[in-house]
Amino acid sequence: MHLLRLLGTLCALGQIASAAPIGQRTSLAPRQASPYWLGQVQHQGLAAFNSNPQSYQVFRNVKDFGAKGDGVTDDSDAINAAIQAGNRCMKGCDSSTTQPGLIYFPSGTYLVTKPIIAVYYSQLVGDAATLPVIKAAGSFSGIAVFDSDPYESDGSNWYTNQNNFFRAIRNFVIDLTATQSGTGIHWQVAQASSLINIRFEMGNTDSQGIFMDNGSGGFMSDLVFRGGKLGAFLGNQQFTTRNFVFEGVKTAMVLNWNWGWTFKSLDIKNCGVGIDMTAGGAEAQTVGSVLVLDSKISNTPIGIKTVHSSTSQPITGGTLVIDNLSTNNVPVIVANNDGGAILAGSGGAIKVESWGQGRVYSPNGGSRVQASLTPRPQKPAALLDGNGYIFERSRPQYTDVPAAQIVSARSNGAKGDGMTDDTAALQALINNNVGKVIFLDHGVYKLTSTLYIPPNTKIVGECWATLISEGPFFADSKNPKVVIQVGKPGEVGLVELSDLVLETAGPAGGAIVLQWNMADAPGTKGTNGMWDVHIRIGGSAGTKLQSDQCKKNPSADGTQINHNCESAFMLMHIGKTGSVYMENNWIWTSDHELDRKDFSQITIFSGRGLWIETQEGPVWGYATASEHNVMYQYQLTNTKNVFLGMIQTETPYYQSNPTVYLPYDVNPAFEDPVYDCPDKSQGSTCAKSIGLRVKDSKDILVYGAGLYSFFENYTQECLKTQTCQDDMVSVEGNTQNFFMYNLNTVGVSNMVKVNERKLVPQAENQNGFASTIALFAQP
Ligand SMILES: *[C@@H]1O[C@H](CO)[C@@H](O)[C@H](O)[C@H]1NC(C)=O
Ligand SMILES: *[C@@H]1O[C@H](CO)[C@@H](O)[C@H](O)[C@H]1NC(C)=O
Ligand SMILES: *[C@@H]1O[C@H](CO)[C@@H](O)[C@H](O)[C@H]1NC(C)=O
Repeated sequence: MHLLRLLGTLCALGQIASAAPIGQRTSLAPRQASPYWLGQVQHQGLAAFNSNPQSYQVFRNVKDFGAKGDGVTDDSDAINAAIQAGNRCMKGCDSSTTQPGLIYFPSGTYLVTKPIIAVYYSQLVGDAATLPVIKAAGSFSGIAVFDSDPYESDGSNWYTNQNNFFRAIRNFVIDLTATQSGTGIHWQVAQASSLINIRFEMGNTDSQGIFMDNGSGGFMSDLVFRGGKLGAFLGNQQFTTRNFVFEGVKTAMVLNWNWGWTFKSLDIKNCGVGIDMTAGGAEAQTVGSVLVLDSKISNTPIGIKTVHSSTSQPITGGTLVIDNLSTNNVPVIVANNDGGAILAGSGGAIKVESWGQGRVYSPNGGSRVQASLTPRPQKPAALLDGNGYIFERSRPQYTDVPAAQIVSARSNGAKGDGMTDDTAALQALINNNVGKVIFLDHGVYKLTSTLYIPPNTKIVGECWATLISEGPFFADSKNPKVVIQVGKPGEVGLVELSDLVLETAGPAGGAIVLQWNMADAPGTKGTNGMWDVHIRIGGSAGTKLQSDQCKKNPSADGTQINHNCESAFMLMHIGKTGSVYMENNWIWTSDHELDRKDFSQITIFSGRGLWIETQEGPVWGYATASEHNVMYQYQLTNTKNVFLGMIQTETPYYQSNPTVYLPYDVNPAFEDPVYDCPDKSQGSTCAKSIGLRVKDSKDILVYGAGLYSFFENYTQECLKTQTCQDDMVSVEGNTQNFFMYNLNTVGVSNMVKVNERKLVPQAENQNGFASTIALFAQP
């Protein structure tokens, strides 16, 4: 999740109850009815672990705080008041999960003259049926219309960019046409963040849509950029974006820096330049790797501009993979800095099936290419849509469902107060409301045995409503139990989950947090899905896996395990019959505390990350990450038809004190990896968690990966020599049609091994801080 952490920032943490009662209307104007159900349903969200849960208001309608939305009144202060009411995590607060805010904007035109500050753990959501317009006045002044991380005059930020989690903005039009050079969104964020369904109207101005300076994300989809000078200025460690449309923008995107970025479904038309990735120049490229998949560029003189060449530095800097790009009237598809053609286009239609620049291992060798890319994967039909693109599906927002048909969990017996056992109430609620949309009001819902999700279940959380397992049922690592079971093995039907956080309360060494067995019915695709559902283990209020109990202690003997800090058996399991569409899922065993004031690093033990063993799939994962789990982050065994783009992992910071061998036994029933290390003792660089293990599998497409090992026993000395651990990807058994594009690693000696043969030394693929290969293929 992060590389550097700024310590010493203290958060008030909701200790002080707010002076004024919150939720009071500051205006007596009648509230306009809004057609979208989210604005109409009763709101009973409860911040269970807030210091003042009874009065803390989760849901805030901006009109209740005086915003007019009439296009003439300056609504900036009213909107910021709606966001900031109560004791929120603002400047000086590193993080907090107990001060959430869902800020709702009914349709209308909201005039603003200064930034709307999107504070920590906020979702800013517009009416999804009729998008509200946020209009920057001609007099607008400030970094951007929406600001996720304000800068102070001394250059400091409110939040540490790599720790700026849990942020969402969706369903807006941002109108910059009255400004000369406004910016739509300053988005400097990390995991569990999203921008979805936003249109930037920039007209004939020098405006830009997104300004992203840095962070560790992340996901965005369904954005439209029209007019203006620049659609998006992007800098971040790793990111996945999907379905961006640029129309008549001078430069669609400038990439300022990254380690890896996957762009799926770009549609760039009538622009000057599509993607400018020349930052840093040929001597010091700052863009690590870029992947453009299933995209279109038309009527644009230059598609992609790069400074990568056989002599550019770093040697794998500016790695680029183009996969299934249609161009029309793009005279130069890939250009060097002065516009000359590296990959020529034409005045007509040209299709680029597969092209790349960077280093390729297929699987042996390691050669530099800047040309048509081979070998090529066979893309299995199971993963494709009707047009031959990798299937994609935006989160359901249920705009066609009237408010009266939305079923509230809290109105139907579930408490979500972080104390009551809600297992039976939730099970009854789900069983009785098959086919309906269940609204899990914000809260923390405790589960003491398995919650079963039957076919045709739709659950949408309010601002990451939380389910937490607790008790002896989940505590025995020798007898693991599923917390949330989506379908029984072999079951078929639809399940949609969105906006949830799944947790465990320790000790929980036997908890399999989420198991997906349900499959799409024949002839349907992607009906099983989870969007913005995050597994967050430990480090937050109510988990009993916090810094008071599980604080890091690197100088102690790590083999002396504190079993109370066993946090999960496995985070997620896609079973033999499961198929699921995953989008923006952060599967995170916390490395540090989010709520207690020390924000200290913690040592907790989750045995396994995401295990995929579906026999037929399909599984799609857009913007998934799995971090800090003991035995592996991703494991694919006996599986096929899996698309992942991009994935991100981190090895636990405590390893190898203890090593991967502790505290869990290898369990063959779960296909656990056996680390056959010559040195099994503490200090072993072999006995550390693999980022991605693929065994006896086929038709596996990984489109972008950032797999990192930043620490050895909590120190970063090993980064100097990039020897924190031996291997990062392990391909085993009989694995076929395995293609991995834009693999980025940090801190490992060998990037990929195949049946223990070390094929990809990191040192020959150096790319600034990370190291990169454009393609590893085992056809
Ligand atoms: C993030 O970007 C800003 C703006 O370019 C820069 O001032 C700041 O130093 C960066 N922070 C980090 C941690 O790189
Ligand atoms: C690529 O995209 C085109 C549409 O332009 C589609 O017809 C084709 O089947 C796609 N897939 C592959 C694997 O080429
Ligand atoms: C881990 O690091 C600490 C210093 O932070 C040191 O005292 C301890 O001996 C190390 N333990 C092992 C097993 O390397």
